[in-house]
Amino acid sequence: MDLFEYQARDLFAKHGVPVLAGIVATTPQEAREAAESMGSALFVVKAQVKTGGRGKVGGVKLARTPEEVEQAASQILGMDIKGHTVRRVMIAEGADIAEEYYFSVLLDRSERRYLAMCSVEGGMEIEQLAVERPEALARIPVDPDEGIDEAMARRIVDEAGFPEADADAVAAVILKLWDVYVKEDATLVEVNPLVKTVDGTILALDGKVSLDENAAFRHPDHDELEDRDTENPLEAKAKEKGLNYVKLDGGQVGIIGNGAGLVMSTLDVVAYAGEQYGVGPANFLDIGGGASAQVMADGLDVILGDPDVRSVFVNVFGGITACDEVANGIVKALEILGDAATKPLVVRLDGNNVEEGRRILEEAAHPLVTIMDTMDGAAARAAEIAA
Ligand SMILES: Nc1ncnc2c1ncn2[C@@H]1O[C@H](COP(=O)(O)OP(=O)(O)OP(=O)(O)O)[C@@H](O)[C@H]1O
Ligand SMILES: [Mg+2]
Repeated sequence: MDLFEYQARDLFAKHGVPVLAGIVATTPQEAREAAESMGSALFVVKAQVKTGGRGKVGGVKLARTPEEVEQAASQILGMDIKGHTVRRVMIAEGADIAEEYYFSVLLDRSERRYLAMCSVEGGMEIEQLAVERPEALARIPVDPDEGIDEAMARRIVDEAGFPEADADAVAAVILKLWDVYVKEDATLVEVNPLVKTVDGTILALDGKVSLDENAAFRHPDHDELEDRDTENPLEAKAKEKGLNYVKLDGGQVGIIGNGAGLVMSTLDVVAYAGEQYGVGPANFLDIGGGASAQVMADGLDVILGDPDVRSVFVNVFGGITACDEVANGIVKALEILGDAATKPLVVRLDGNNVEEGRRILEEAAHPLVTIMDTMDGAAARAAEIAA
């Protein structure tokens, strides 16, 4: 789960990372009141959206008075930044910046360890820096058993090329950021810019944090960080029902399968079959093993609720959960849904007890259901119906 900057800022503060005051506002009026309550000589009004490059498109504005804050907020709220509508701004205390640095630590899955990155040339264009002058961005592998201790933090600042005078102070902040990473079970903590102010203080002025949802059971407090306002409503509904569902843009064929691998290849065959008609898969939905009638009904319910969907391809390979159980699940699911089931289903069953499964579906003879023998055939039929 990716966090908004203001949420990252709160986690930083909780673990002792130096940050400036920041208050979230949803209207220009609130923004002005926030600035009045903060009473600073310089403010920064920052769009809160889960995408990068806000500054470059006018999503980060300096302001000197509460009136200017209100004006900046009215310009930023409602802005579209790379497809994200700005619904919140953070009013941050302004810093007197002397230097901008970069620091991040993330999970490096392919190397099975962590990776710390650090540069004395932080600011807005770190991706560009990494491409054009990779030597200016130190990349230091971190052994998961060792983590970042004092010596490692020193190594990171030394490799990044910090002058001796700043090295200790920056290393101390890196240790705190490592605390955030480990104690909150994050997969990414990025600070760009980490700054030195004119009076020599090190501060995190921006924060990007991703939390590992697999560790949610250890962090009941992370639940409230979830952004239910801007989440896709179908994805929210699926999550509530414990389904593994991802909405895909631009598709018309709903997909249900058992097992992530089978569903992935189903997306491929549907994309291929739909090419000639200009249709494609509308979602990923893995109902997993042991799919009960209720799970099938929940899955169908989510998919049929998607206005983009014109046909549904149910692709099941019977294993421990045999095809007859899945077929019964489909029949019961259609009963449960009743009139809510409105779109044609193309069903392909194979594997354990396939004959009995097909017999059950044939006997039920639901008017919306077409049974197909092969995966390619079913994909073609589903694509044709959607077209
Ligand atoms: N509190 C602050 N005080 C003074 N200047 C700030 C403050 N916050 C941000 N800035 C300035 O604005 C620039 C952009 O801010 P920030 O890094 O938060 O946004 P961004 O980099 O555009 O966004 P993203 O990280 O999403 O790409 C910073 O590099 C810094 O120069
Ligand atoms: Mg930034």
